[in-house]
Amino acid sequence: MKIIDETINLMEKENGDIVSMIFESSKDKRWYPFKDQRDLEMTIMDSIPEKIRNESPFIMLLRPNKNPESLLSFAPLLKWENGTSETNKIESRDSIESGEIRLLINRLLEKGLEHGRNGKITFEGDSINEFREHLLQNMDYKALNIQQSNSSFILGGRFICKFVRKVHVGENPDVEIPQKLYAETAFRNTPKPIGQLVYREKQVYSLMSIHTFIENNGDYWDYFTRMAESLFLQSEHEESRENIFKSLTGSIEEIAKAVGEMHIGLSTLKGNDFSSEPVNDSYISKLKSGFLQLCQNLSSTKTHIKIKGEIINTNELGRSLESLIHKINFRFFQGTRITRVHGDLHLGQILRTDNGPVIIDFEGEPMRTPRERTMKQSPLKDVSGIVRSIDYALNFNVERDDYNLVMGQNYSLKLKTKFLEEYWKITSGIGILPDTFQAFLGISEFFELDKAIYELNYEISNRPEWADIPAAAILKIMQRLD
Ligand SMILES: Nc1ncnc2c1ncn2[C@@H]1O[C@H](COP(=O)(O)OP(=O)(O)O)[C@@H](O)[C@H]1O
Ligand SMILES: [Mg+2]
Repeated sequence: MKIIDETINLMEKENGDIVSMIFESSKDKRWYPFKDQRDLEMTIMDSIPEKIRNESPFIMLLRPNKNPESLLSFAPLLKWENGTSETNKIESRDSIESGEIRLLINRLLEKGLEHGRNGKITFEGDSINEFREHLLQNMDYKALNIQQSNSSFILGGRFICKFVRKVHVGENPDVEIPQKLYAETAFRNTPKPIGQLVYREKQVYSLMSIHTFIENNGDYWDYFTRMAESLFLQSEHEESRENIFKSLTGSIEEIAKAVGEMHIGLSTLKGNDFSSEPVNDSYISKLKSGFLQLCQNLSSTKTHIKIKGEIINTNELGRSLESLIHKINFRFFQGTRITRVHGDLHLGQILRTDNGPVIIDFEGEPMRTPRERTMKQSPLKDVSGIVRSIDYALNFNVERDDYNLVMGQNYSLKLKTKFLEEYWKITSGIGILPDTFQAFLGISEFFELDKAIYELNYEISNRPEWADIPAAAILKIMQRLD
């Protein structure tokens, strides 16, 4: 390996093995998106700063040759002992896990920007001054150990930074939507957006979003799964069960209010990319073809799922669902509107705080393309996200024998109904949803079914032991539609 002047220029071909090393050490991380792919070809898009020093973190952007739309971003730090020489052993560590990314952030805050060979990185956003001033005093670092598709850490005890691992060109909805909500609406049940770290060359890429850190008691997914577990353990004690159920109902009311108010806020945003629009034929066609595609995917599976003593063949289920589309009343959509939505709403995206529910993560579903994530949708798509999440939470940590399955379904139905009623109280009459509660329920049931089929496909290939949860929900809805 050739190293010049104690710096590495990662753009040079000789240093390709350093890149391979960084890549190799990332393969077992949660966020690594190409786990099942071999023989990947990657092009180095940039490394910033261009000259990499010993023990100094840098950002490296790689472009998968097969899928040039989505870049991978790394924040490594290289260490080679005894100065630099061709025989020297080099070690690579992730500067976000180790906290050394602070050095780069600090340099950026002082200098304002850092150049790579092809572009530069800077912090941008309305509240970046507040961020800079606080951090120059206090740079405490805490990595969040829940590693998802991104890597998050808390800085200075006050800000949460989400380092995006799979980067896309253009605006980042996780920053853009909260910024619009704060600038144009009174909705405050979401953390204040501070800004982002962007990479600019010919185009702009968001590398990291920054929000205010909110003290919280965990998220509602943790809360609901925990409460559901005790609900089932208390099956002999009517009174304890009632108390637990009462707490869950109280939470549902608060969540419905927050989600409803978020949708009211989203429905009033201004500007072409944000303002609400009437539902048109093309939106309905997209919904129908998306639904049929999910059914076809299911038809091509050959799994057997046991529910209440009955064996369900997923191939047959997929085919009966395909023909069910004629029973779905798409006229319920008439007169409704589409808006920007959260896009990936579930109980795990809502924090429990002393000031009520706080909704986070407007990034959209990680597997979807940027265009799909920013598409205007019926707000009831988000609503179905919560409804499905309630159903999962009540069946998750529970041994799903016939008795528990019925009990789980009953609780889930009660909580779902409560959620829909409370949400309707808040949002009916804002001119986005249908005029009648019946049409509202019809649309939300369509999205619920659509989502449950998506989940069933996912579970069949990833977590077959959970496949009975969405399958049972699908059967229930089919019974009602028939
Ligand atoms: N503003 C915030 N305040 C406190 N904790 C947060 C905040 N934003 C995110 N978190 C924590 O980080 C986790 C992941 O954040 P999220 O934005 O959902 O990222 P991901 O894309 O990885 O799902 C959340 O579940 C929550 O625990
Ligand atoms: Mg999330």
